Amino acid sequence: MTACITTLGLRLSCQPKGKLRPEHIEKAFVQLPARAQLLLKPRYISVDPYMRTRMQPEGYDYIERWNAGSPLSGWTLAEVIASNIPAFKPGDLVVGHLPMQEIIASDGKGLAVIPAGSDPTAFLHPLGMTGFTAWVGMQLIGQPTEQDTVLVSAAAGAVGSIAAQLAKRLGAKVIVTAGRADKRDWLRHKGFQTVLDHRHADYAEQLHNAAPSGITLNFENVGGRAFTAAIEAMKANGRIVLCGLVSQYQSEQPRQSPHNFAQLGQKRVSVHPFVVPHYLDYWDDFQKFMAPLVARGDINWRLDTISGGLDSIGLALIGLLRGDNLGKRVVEIP
Ligand SMILES: NC(=O)c1ccc[n+]([C@@H]2O[C@H](COP(=O)([O-])OP(=O)(O)OC[C@H]3O[C@@H](n4cnc5c(N)ncnc54)[C@H](OP(=O)(O)O)[C@@H]3O)[C@@H](O)[C@H]2O)c1
Repeated sequence: MTACITTLGLRLSCQPKGKLRPEHIEKAFVQLPARAQLLLKPRYISVDPYMRTRMQPEGYDYIERWNAGSPLSGWTLAEVIASNIPAFKPGDLVVGHLPMQEIIASDGKGLAVIPAGSDPTAFLHPLGMTGFTAWVGMQLIGQPTEQDTVLVSAAAGAVGSIAAQLAKRLGAKVIVTAGRADKRDWLRHKGFQTVLDHRHADYAEQLHNAAPSGITLNFENVGGRAFTAAIEAMKANGRIVLCGLVSQYQSEQPRQSPHNFAQLGQKRVSVHPFVVPHYLDYWDDFQKFMAPLVARGDINWRLDTISGGLDSIGLALIGLLRGDNLGKRVVEIP
């Protein structure tokens, strides 16, 4: 492929202070390489809370920081439109981490072709990065048993919904939380009996009533007041799998620990923070575990699909960081 192509992509206009606003994300022309090995057309782009952490001035060592002018990228389901690589044929659907552009040039590295007979959209969620995160955090690190009382916050969201099901499958007693009534109804409908509201002023009391003898495993997704309440509710010798702290990502000081953190030492609670880029060697094990469950319909999952293409990414992410989504939020690219 030798033609010179210009396409449109998204970039950060400036690093937000406080809440992300639509003007922080802008469209810009992007010149594709003259000799691209693969050309792709995105079909769905995932929007995820960590995108806001990439905009924080402090940055993280495991992922490149987004500064003013940085091109945006995300987990994407794309169609191959032209290929010089034998492993990829026009019409194939692929997933991988890709720049947010109308047309994408790629060398194929890090891309997986969707296997024939699978639902491609499952690779945006239970078989994609959010399913992988849930599996790493719950199955690999948390390893709950029938003896555990597990708390999963934001369980109507992407990672939480899968993590909660994995804990249930392992026989644990599972307490789930969600910040909106329809989300809690959805969780009850999916078979969770103890469903709490982590945004409610009396959440700590709800938690105590639901687990009077304490939480033995907390899968933390929310942070802030919800995490403070979970620490309060931890049983001695319990463990915390620290997956994320989404409620803090837009705050001016996003890395403050809860005021009662010292309780963890007193109660001998162990804390296991993790980020999935450190676990990519387990990707094949995850697929072997999760693909049959998804194929049999044994995992409940739901996409929260926003239409409107690249123009909708900013608002979709802003809404996600408010909690608008039920299920895995993705943006459909026409
Ligand atoms: N460790 C890793 O490698 C890794 C990878 C992926 C994700 N994560 C983390 O996992 C967590 C969930 O991510 P996800 O992709 O599955 O997103 P998600 O749960 O689908 O969406 C985020 C949810 O967080 C809750 N939320 C958002 N803003 C909030 C606020 N200000 N206060 C309280 N709750 C808020 C909302 O649920 P409610 O309406 O129920 O409050 C919202 O639906 C995040 O903390 C994320 O950073 C970690």
